[in-house]
Amino acid sequence: MSDFKRNIIITGGAGFIGSHVVRLFVNKYPDYHIINLDKLTYAGNLVNLKDIEDRPNYTFVKADICDFNKIGELMKQYHVDGIIHLAAESHVDRSIKDPFTFAQTNVMGTLSLLQAAKLYWESLPERYEGKRFYHISTDEVYGALELTCPEGKKSEISAHEVYGEEFFHETTKYQPHSPYSASKASSDHFVRAFHDTYGMPTIVTNCSNNYGPYQFPEKLIPLFINNIRHRKPLPVYGKGENVRDWLYVVDHARAIDTIFHHGKIADTYNIGGFNEWKNIDIIKVIIKTVDRLLGNPEGYSLDLITYVTDRAGHDLRYAIDSTKLKNELGWKPSLQFEEGIEKTVRWYLDNQEWMDNITSGEYEKYYESMYKDR
Ligand code: NAD
Ligand code: DAU
Repeated sequence: MSDFKRNIIITGGAGFIGSHVVRLFVNKYPDYHIINLDKLTYAGNLVNLKDIEDRPNYTFVKADICDFNKIGELMKQYHVDGIIHLAAESHVDRSIKDPFTFAQTNVMGTLSLLQAAKLYWESLPERYEGKRFYHISTDEVYGALELTCPEGKKSEISAHEVYGEEFFHETTKYQPHSPYSASKASSDHFVRAFHDTYGMPTIVTNCSNNYGPYQFPEKLIPLFINNIRHRKPLPVYGKGENVRDWLYVVDHARAIDTIFHHGKIADTYNIGGFNEWKNIDIIKVIIKTVDRLLGNPEGYSLDLITYVTDRAGHDLRYAIDSTKLKNELGWKPSLQFEEGIEKTVRWYLDNQEWMDNITSGEYEKYYESMYKDR
């Protein structure tokens, strides 16, 4: 028996979104034991959790989700009754170069977690009662939407303008294009199959682009903030016309909390910011904000914009409709984009040591090789 009310494994807790979810749960639920299970790949960084690492309800375990036997032992050792699964290879550009790693971690890793959870929970007298397997997925599984309003038009569902008539709904057909999204789609199917075949209490959510503190600087926003600071080129893929729907990461963590506790078993929820931006427009906002906070004259870093070869298979537009989550569980984003991006830029500028620790050494070599191939 355990002294805690709940014992939850959060996978990928040392990564960007995972660290925000771990922090939220550890702080909000002192009667829950939060077990952060992470392999610490290049994207995992325990510094992200310095503020909560000594809490009595927090345990870090370095493990690979593909290690089925180890996961089984941990489930038993900690009497695990919930899994919130975020561990993944998450960067589209890397998946284009190395799809095998994505299939291994995202598909086989998820399957190994599911099977370990199944064997443990089915061995208990109460079986699946009170248990939950919550899989965090992405809007990229739905493929790409058209840009039918390239100049943007007033939205009927959001405060921000939109760039097309269509949105991703929970019922939208899966049509992944990149090896990353194909691997996430496959993992989503396995999770649903474990519900339909074995009765495992699963939930899947598909979220749009997250931004905020602790994001690995291979992703657009932290990469560009750091490059502006160092007066390095800002590599804009293609014409910069692609559209993404941005959500502040803490709002994603809040949604995960709500859905973990109140979401309907076997259901799917879309999570999004109702906040579409063309890449080139968001890049100009970042430049303006960084320049202002660094005391540079307005427009000073615009000359860093460098148009480069487009990403292969680059999805044109993502736009999530998260009305279902709002109507059924009462969640909506708490931050306006202007406030979120200001907080984010300030965080990266105030935490240069965090950034410099990552961007020195091995990462520098990787980034140069990615860039050379373009
Ligand atoms: P991230 O790359 O920042 O972090 C991934 C974490 O998973 C790292 O800590 C890494 O060490 C860990 N990990 C990787 N392989 C592992 C393995 N085999 N075993 C154990 N741990 C392993 O990713 P992120 O951006 O925080 O994304 C987290 C999850 O959310 C992913 O499943 C991703 O598909 C999904 N998602 C991300 C976004 C986004 O905008 N970043 C949006 C929607 C959904
Ligand atoms: O939509 C959710 C997804 O968002 C998550 O599932 C992924 O894990 C996450 O990485 C993110 O995927 P994107 O490919 O949209 O994010 P990224 O930050 O890599 O790129 C955002 C947009 O900016 C995309 O259209 C590509 C473009 N881009 C990106 C980089 C890194 C550039 O123009 N230049 C760049 O250097």
